[in-house]
Amino acid sequence: MSLGPQAQANLEQKTVLITGASAGIGEAIAREFVEAAGGNIRLVLAARRADRLAELSRQLKQSGAQVHTAELDVSDRAKINAFFAALPPDYRNIDVLVNNAGKALGVEHAGNIRDEDVEEMFSTNVIGLIKMTQTVIRGMKERNSGDIVQVGSIAGIESYPGGSIYCATKSAVRSFTQAIRKELISTRIRVMEIDPGAVETEFSLVRFGGDATKASKVYEGYEPLSAKDIADVVVFNCSRRANVVVAESVVFPTAQAGSYHRHRSEPREGTEKN
Ligand SMILES: NC(=O)c1ccc[n+]([C@@H]2O[C@H](COP(=O)([O-])OP(=O)(O)OC[C@H]3O[C@@H](n4cnc5c(N)ncnc54)[C@H](OP(=O)(O)O)[C@@H]3O)[C@@H](O)[C@H]2O)c1
Repeated sequence: MSLGPQAQANLEQKTVLITGASAGIGEAIAREFVEAAGGNIRLVLAARRADRLAELSRQLKQSGAQVHTAELDVSDRAKINAFFAALPPDYRNIDVLVNNAGKALGVEHAGNIRDEDVEEMFSTNVIGLIKMTQTVIRGMKERNSGDIVQVGSIAGIESYPGGSIYCATKSAVRSFTQAIRKELISTRIRVMEIDPGAVETEFSLVRFGGDATKASKVYEGYEPLSAKDIADVVVFNCSRRANVVVAESVVFPTAQAGSYHRHRSEPREGTEKN
């Protein structure tokens, strides 16, 4: 999406670090930054699936972007330390951090939730996000500039049955984000949160342990958002002039008005799903 010359100028030559860039919303955000900056941008793309990042990097470089990819599991503190230590010098001053890596696992009710799932959701969605933020924020404070984008969820605003742990992680993201926005009030660092509703990505496939039938049911009977819809908003927000902070963006498809409030009917013929 072209956002016009001023927005493009606001993004050009920035260094953008995106976690969870190997799929879904993170991948779309990477593509969108490159397009909106006319290729004049530096990206650090991180996720566990390095092969996917390599392919994405190859494509983005064709559009003129400079790209560094790194295998990273944000739930592992030691790996985060090693990741930052290994950043090439040109990629060390992060202007925009997009904390996107995250997941929901299962739909069990409390009492039946696996301890491992609780731990993985919290260590990825919360502890990893906090560690990434804390590490990057130090340089941003020194330079007195930077954007922090937290990918939250409507689940962090409105909890739903079967999502207790996921909702709790996204609420934690929200609380952390609101606090740091206040802590950084005297700086030029912008703290932004985006809270999507239903977006059709690999999210539900991961949630249901690879069961494609269960995953596709989540998006039946209405038109969900696409990853690009969210990426458009993230990049728009980051391309505002430095004095403008789009602090919170809740983004739904038209058939949704809350975590659990979805209008489902038969998909209309000819309606694209993404
Ligand atoms: N889809 C939705 O409806 C929706 C709605 C609201 C919020 N969100 C949020 O949006 C974000 C992106 O989700 P998505 O919908 O794009 O799902 P997705 O298609 O499953 O993508 C998730 C991304 O996170 C990465 N990831 C997972 N665990 C990781 C880890 N431990 N370390 C590093 N990267 C990890 C995955 O890459 P690897 O597997 O290669 O590591 C992948 O790139 C998440 O925070 C999610 O909670 C999604």
